[in-house]
Order: sequence, then C-alpha cells, then structure tokens
Amino acid sequence: MILPRGTHDILPKEAEKWHVIEDAFMKLCHTYQYGEIRTPIFEHTELFERGVGDTTDIVTKEMYTFADKAGRSITLRPEGTASVVRAYVEHKLFGQVNQPVKLYYKGPMFRYERPQGGRQRQFNQMGVEAIGSSDPAIDAEVISLAMNFFQTLGLQNIELVINSLGDKGSRQKHREALIAHFEPSIDEFCADCHERLYKNPLRILDCKKDHDHPLIQSAPSILDFLNEESTAYFEKVKAYLDVVGISYRVDPTLVRGLDYYNHTCFEIMSAEKEFGAQMTLCGGGRYHGLVEEFGGPETPGIGFGIGVERILIVLEKAGITLPAEPGLDCYLITAQPEAEAKAVELMARLRKQQIVAEKDYMGRKMKAQLKDANRKNARFTIIIGETEIDQKAYQLKDMATGEQVEVAEEKLAAELIRLLEGEEHNE
Ligand code: HAM
Repeated sequence: MILPRGTHDILPKEAEKWHVIEDAFMKLCHTYQYGEIRTPIFEHTELFERGVGDTTDIVTKEMYTFADKAGRSITLRPEGTASVVRAYVEHKLFGQVNQPVKLYYKGPMFRYERPQGGRQRQFNQMGVEAIGSSDPAIDAEVISLAMNFFQTLGLQNIELVINSLGDKGSRQKHREALIAHFEPSIDEFCADCHERLYKNPLRILDCKKDHDHPLIQSAPSILDFLNEESTAYFEKVKAYLDVVGISYRVDPTLVRGLDYYNHTCFEIMSAEKEFGAQMTLCGGGRYHGLVEEFGGPETPGIGFGIGVERILIVLEKAGITLPAEPGLDCYLITAQPEAEAKAVELMARLRKQQIVAEKDYMGRKMKAQLKDANRKNARFTIIIGETEIDQKAYQLKDMATGEQVEVAEEKLAAELIRLLEGEEHNE
C-alpha cells in the first residue's frame, strides 16, 4: 500500500521542524493579538463556490468534492478564509465588543493540483484574518506579521510584492478595458482563457499556460483604473509599510487566484538563489464583501495564508537548521530481568516530574541498552540491579562527563532536575 499522490507522511524527525515552525507562528500571532480559530476540514461545497468564486481554478478544477451518505455535496477545504468568514457570521462575531476580530489558524488544505516541488494535494497553511476594520494600518499589521515570521525563522532573501485591485467600481472599469485588450487576439490564448474573457478577464493575467504571452505584459494596469478613494487607500497602506520599515515592490499584474479580493493584495516570495523560479510562500489581501456574501453585515476583512511545506523547502535550500527539540534526559538500564519492575516504577515517577525518561523494551543485554542510551542522546543513565534495589540507591551517570553520583531512590527525581537545570544555566 502506498499513500495517495500529492500527499506525504511526516515522521517524528521531520515533525520536530513542524513544531518549531508552528510554535513560532503561534507565539507571533499572540504578540500581534490574534486568537486561534479551528474550523472543520470539510464544509458545504457552496461555501467555496460562493466564497472563492465559481470561475476560479480552485473551484472549477481543484476541489475534493463528494456526496456524503445523505446526498449533501461536501468539499474538503481548499483554503481557510471562506470557513473563517462563515464562522465569523455564524457566531455573530461582528456583534462582539472586541473589534476588529483578529483570528489565526493552521491546518491541512486540499487542492487537486499536479503535484511537484512545493505543490501538493494535501498541504498545510498557517494564516490570519483580521475582520471588521478598514484602517490601512491593519493591512500593514497583517503584512508585517507575515514578514516578521519569516525573519524569525532566519529567512533572508524574501520579497514582498503588493498591488491594489481597488473597489468594485474601479474593478468594473478595469474589467471592460481588459476585455477590449484581449478580445481581438483571444484565439492566441488557451481554452480556459477563452472562457475567462467575459466571465472573469482578470484571471487571464494569472493563467499558468499563457503567462509569457506579450499581451499579458501590455495589459491595462489596474492602478490606472483605481478611483480616488482606492488610490488614497493604497497610498496609505504603502506609507504604513514605510513607517514599519518593510520594503516592497508594487506589481500591477499581481491579481491572486481567488475571487474575493479587492483593494490590497500581496504575495511574499523566497528569492533563494538556488531556485530556478521564485517560490511563493504567502499570499493574501483584502476581501470586502465576503462577510455580506455569507449573510453578515457589510464588513471589511484582510488576511493571508502561508504554505508550511514551502517554508520547509526554502529553509533547506537556505541551509537553515531549526533548533532541535530537547532530547532524552535519562535512560534507565536494567542489569537483570528481575530489575524490570523497578525500572518501570522509577521511570513512571521521573516522567511524573516532566523528566524525559526512557528504558529498553526489546530485552536487550546491558551493553546494548547502553548503546541505545547513547543513540538516543541520553544526558544521564541509571543502572538498576539487585544491589541498587536492596540499598534503595542508584548511580546517576552524566553521559557527557562520565561522572557518577550515588543518589537515594526518593531523591532521584529532585537530583536529576537539579542537575538538568544546572546544565541549562551553563549553556
Ligand atoms: P493562496 O495564495 O491560494 O491563498 O495560498 C496561500 C499559500 O498556500 C501559497 O502562497 C502557498 O504557499 C500555499 N499553497 C497553496 N497551494 C498549495 C499547494 N497545492 N501545495 C503547497 N502549498 C500551497 C489562500 O489560500 C488565501 N486563503 C489566503 C488569504 C487569507 N487571503 C486572505 N486571507
């Protein structure tokens, strides 16, 4: 049996890296005062059709959709924003005193895409959504949270690209200009772009097949169609980014692959030199209108999603090793099979005191147990034999220095804690 295409197992050594990344993200979210939200992994299909947009690649080609046993159409979430906004409306979070509502999430997402480096069918995102404020300072906050996160991980060659898609009126004018621009030569484009021309011409700019067509580069820029209000908003966002010292590049062709966006949108890429192409680590933007779409009051929102697998790829390419999780504090070695019960008892006592303890479960001889302790990087070992059990005292051995001290049974945990804490102070 093998796992399905586009999925992967995360084994313990690799999972340690995930813990470091997730902990760093959660800590930072707390610093910025975002609280965690956990939504279901599957939702009614309609949520994504209406939220993400029924002309997007995600909805038309990439969703894992199935009928449940009662015949309801269910979809494994392809992204997090639609679910978070649904929950915001469902729990009437717009009515709570604490505004804007600042939320973060992490977890698996599902898209039926062609698997390749940095693109899976089940992948993990960490994201935030700030709902309820149209202060451009919140745009800068959300973007700086993401940038700060990459910095925390030690990633340096990171580029922020921003654009504004403007409000509804600006987008409508831009849409008409795009149709006029592409219509005469649409036969040179792929079948999907033919469909996009009248349904959603902005999507042509984002086409994976035709991205090198010269008409895409020369397409009318959204920035020339922004009305006064949208332009002023974008200027303020940029000014706030300047205030917090975040550099960016404005790219008027940045349109994003989901339909809910307006005003600010952005992507953060890794420019690691080893990559042929840049890798997009993070994408996000504003989505005024999504809360209303799901039955809530008129409410602005902004957020981003970061791909965790992509971070891991980039960290590796950049040669960054994350700090390892602490290993084994103490390995209990049994001198005879009769000492087993005592080892089990002592180990349970140590673990109750949060001491990371382990013993042999494979019937190994003493020498092999010692080897196992070394393999597991145990900082201390205790040998348990008949004499030790009779005298209720054990030799505690520091594996780094070889030093041994005799410790009475009832003081074992306390002495270990003392020695381990002493080590930390010396570090
Ligand atoms: P997105 O750009 O579709 O935006 O995805 C965000 C990030 O998820 C990407 O930049 C990438 O790192 C990662 N990602 C996407 N697809 C895959 C895949 N197939 N395999 C591996 N990683 C992937 C969203 O999903 C929006 N919900 C972001 C957002 C939040 N906008 C506002 N709020």
